[in-house]
Amino acid sequence: MGNQDLSDLPMKVKLPKPDDAGRSHIEELITKRRSIREYADRELSEPLISRFLWATQGTSSKEGLRTAPSAGALYPLEVHVVIGEGSGLEAGIYRYVTEEHSLIQEIPGDMRKKLSEAALSQGMIKNAPVSLLISAIYPRITSKYGKRGLRYAHMEAGHAAQNVYLLGVELGIGTCTIGAFEDEEVKKVLKMPANEDPLYIMPLGYI
Ligand SMILES: Cc1cc2nc3c(=O)[nH]c(=O)nc-3n(C[C@H](O)[C@H](O)[C@H](O)COP(=O)(O)O)c2cc1C
Repeated sequence: MGNQDLSDLPMKVKLPKPDDAGRSHIEELITKRRSIREYADRELSEPLISRFLWATQGTSSKEGLRTAPSAGALYPLEVHVVIGEGSGLEAGIYRYVTEEHSLIQEIPGDMRKKLSEAALSQGMIKNAPVSLLISAIYPRITSKYGKRGLRYAHMEAGHAAQNVYLLGVELGIGTCTIGAFEDEEVKKVLKMPANEDPLYIMPLGYI
């Protein structure tokens, strides 16, 4: 190396192994998180569905702040839940109302097959007793942040989805983020208004 100035060289730091300082519960959950595409033939109870909706977009503070972060706390995301025959709630598609922690039925009947077909026939949507659908109403966030608001909404969907994955690991419920679907077909199945766009479908089922 001679007289070479070493300060310009990249420095490599060997990090301590992640489990050197022990393993916290959240680290266990992160380690075990996987996308699961096959589920047991077992219904999800209403309390369990309620817990997943809360983890996705429920409130976790008196001021109405939510379980997932949101740029400017503008909350562009909506959550719908698609419930099949034989689950803890009457089959149908419901919209989650965060402020009241309640559901409003939007479409009656078992819509899982139709939603699966709109998602390149991915069988896990048809087979899971319940699916969450995370969508965005972009104007809620682009009105403040302009085009950048689009990426914020997508980031927020990632946060919400990770909550679902991690709660699933804790409760023995498998899920998988599904982004491959025909937007217009999914919108038709859910009868979504023009200003709402689907982002993620997340089937839920016992492993
Ligand atoms: C944006 C996004 C879209 C995805 N879309 C699909 C999908 O349509 N179908 C599917 O089976 N998996 C989908 N996945 C799951 C990935 O295949 C999965 O995360 C990847 O194989 C890594 O496996 P892991 O989640 O078990 O770590 C998607 C994941 C992301 C982040």
